[in-house]
Amino acid sequence: MISHDVLIIGSGAAGLTLALRLPESARVAVLSKGALSEGSSLYAQGGISAVLEEDDSLDAHVADTIEAGAGLTDERVARFVTREAAACIHWLVGMGVPFSTLEKPDGTVSLHLHQEGGHSHRRIVHAADATGRAVETTLEGLVRTRPNIDVLEDHLAVDVFTGRRLGRADDRCLGAYVLDTVNDTVRAMSARFVVLATGGASKVYLYTSNPDGATGDGIAMAWRAGCRIANMEFNQFHPTCLYHPDAKSFLISEALRGEGGRLLRPDGSRFMPDFDRRGELAPRDIVARAIDHEMKRLGAECMYLDISHRDPAFIREHFPTIHDRCLELGIDVTRQPIPVVPAAHYTCGGVMVDMHGRTDRPGLYAIGETSCTGLHGANRLASNSLLECLVYGAAAADNIAALLPTAPENVEIPPWDESRVTDSDEQVVVSHNWHELRQFMWDYVGIVRTNKRLERAQHRVELLQSEIREYYGNFRINADLIELRNLATVAELIIASARVRKESRGLHYTLDYPASDDSRAAQPTVLHPA
Ligand code: FAD
Ligand code: SIN
Repeated sequence: MISHDVLIIGSGAAGLTLALRLPESARVAVLSKGALSEGSSLYAQGGISAVLEEDDSLDAHVADTIEAGAGLTDERVARFVTREAAACIHWLVGMGVPFSTLEKPDGTVSLHLHQEGGHSHRRIVHAADATGRAVETTLEGLVRTRPNIDVLEDHLAVDVFTGRRLGRADDRCLGAYVLDTVNDTVRAMSARFVVLATGGASKVYLYTSNPDGATGDGIAMAWRAGCRIANMEFNQFHPTCLYHPDAKSFLISEALRGEGGRLLRPDGSRFMPDFDRRGELAPRDIVARAIDHEMKRLGAECMYLDISHRDPAFIREHFPTIHDRCLELGIDVTRQPIPVVPAAHYTCGGVMVDMHGRTDRPGLYAIGETSCTGLHGANRLASNSLLECLVYGAAAADNIAALLPTAPENVEIPPWDESRVTDSDEQVVVSHNWHELRQFMWDYVGIVRTNKRLERAQHRVELLQSEIREYYGNFRINADLIELRNLATVAELIIASARVRKESRGLHYTLDYPASDDSRAAQPTVLHPA
C-alpha cells in the first residue's frame, strides 16, 4: 500500500494548481492516467477570463456569467470566482506562464485581452491560441521539481475507497484503488484527503473536441461513492470544430469569432444575425443550435467560419496553432473559410461541491470540470472553465491545508481482490460497446432532444450496463473496461437528468418542451445515489 496526505487524481489545470498550492510539508501524489500533461487543459485555446481593465467590472463579468447560465448560475459562486480571477492570473504569471502581452502607447506593457462570445468586454487572457499548453506545461515543469510531490503517470484510479467498506460509520474517503496501466496491476493508495480532478465526460459523444481520456471517471467514481451529481443534462457543444477527415477533435477557437470571424452557409451567406442580435458572438448554445439547424435544413455536411478579411499577419500572430494546423490540411485560413461542425466540448454538470470543493463524502473533494460548483448553470460562458480550475484548485488547497494538522491518519486499505476473475478472451465486447454508446448518445441525447429519443437511449444504456456489470464481475480489469464502465454511468446520469427536465433551458433543448418554464424559479437537477 502507498500512503500520502493528499491524493490528487488528475493532472490538468485543476489538479496541478492544487498540488502547487498545497504546503510543501504535505506529502502529495498526483495521478494521471496517461502522460502528466495530457488532458483537456493542454488543448485549451481561447484563454482565461478575468477582469483586468478599468473599463470592465466584476459586476459585468458576473452578469455575463449569469446570463449565459440561463437562470441556473449560483450568483454567490459567480461573485466568488470572478473576484478571485485577477489574483489567479497574477499567480500564473508569477509561476512563469508566458501570456501574450501588449505594449501600450505610453510604453507600459499589459496582458493582451481577447474577446469571446457572451462577454460584454474584452477580458480573455491568452497565450496566442495555445493558452492551455502554456499553462499546463509551465505547471507540469514546477510540479516535477517539488520534492513533496510524487508524480504517478499511467496510473488510472478505478474507485475511491470509503470507510463504509471497512464497516465504519463516518464513511470518510480513505484512498483509492489505482490500476498501473503499464504493469496491469491494481494498487491500494491510502490518503487523508482525496481530490477528484479528472476532467469532463464529453467522450460520451461520438464527436467531441476533447482528448480520449475525457470519460467522466471522477463523476462515476463519486456517484459510486454516494455523492450527489447535478446538472448532467447540460452538455456544451462547441459550435466550431474543424470538419476534415484527417482532423480528429481539432477546435477552432471562439476567439476567432471574437476577432471578426463570420459564420457562413456553403453558398457564402451569413446566417447568425437571423438567429440572434449578437450574431457570431451569441452564447455557444445558440450558435451551436443555429449551425445544427442550418446543416439539417440544407442537408449540408458543415458550415464555414471565415476570417480571411482580416490582415494575414494579424491572423498568423493571434492564431498560429489554428493557422498551421489548417494549412497542414490544405486550408489557408488567411484566404479561405474553414469548414466547421459542432462537437461535444464541456460537461457543465458534475459532482456537487461547496465553495471549498468538498463533496458529500468527508475527505473527498472534486475540482475542475469534474465538479459542479454552480458557476456554469445551464451553459458555461467561454473561458470560465480554466478560471474555475484555478480558483477551486486554490480554494481546495487552502481548505485541506487548514484541516491537515487535525485530520485522521492514514488507514490500511485491503488489497484489490482478483481471486474470482480471469483474463477476458472477448475484448471485442468492450470496443463494440464503446462505439455503440457514443453513437446513440450522439443520435438521441445530442444538441436537440425529444422524449422518445431519451427513452430509446435509456433502454440502450440499461442493456449495456448489465453487460458491463457481468464483464466487470468476471474478468480482470483493464483501462478500456474501466473507462467504458464510467462512460456508461455518465450516460445514465445525463439521460436521467435530461428526462427530469420538462423544459428547454440553456444547453438542454427538447422539441417536446421547446420553451423555458418561467412559471417558477429555475432549479438545478440533482441526482441522489440509491
Ligand atoms: P483535464 O485538463 O481534462 O485533466 C484531467 C486529468 O485527469 C488528466 O490528467 C487525466 O489523465 C486525469 N484522469 C482522468 N481520469 C483519471 C483516472 N481515472 N485516474 C487517473 N487520472 C485520471 N476552457 C477555457 O476556460 N478556456 C479555453 O480556452 C478552453 N479551450 C478549450 C479547448 C479545447 C480543445 C477543450 C477540449 C477544452 C477547452 N476548454 C477551455 C475547457 C477546459 O480546457 C477544460 O474544462 C479544463 O481544462 C479542464 O481541466 P481539468 O483540470 O478539470 O481536467
Ligand atoms: C475556445 O477557444 O473557443 C474555447 C474556449 C472555451 O471552451 O472556453
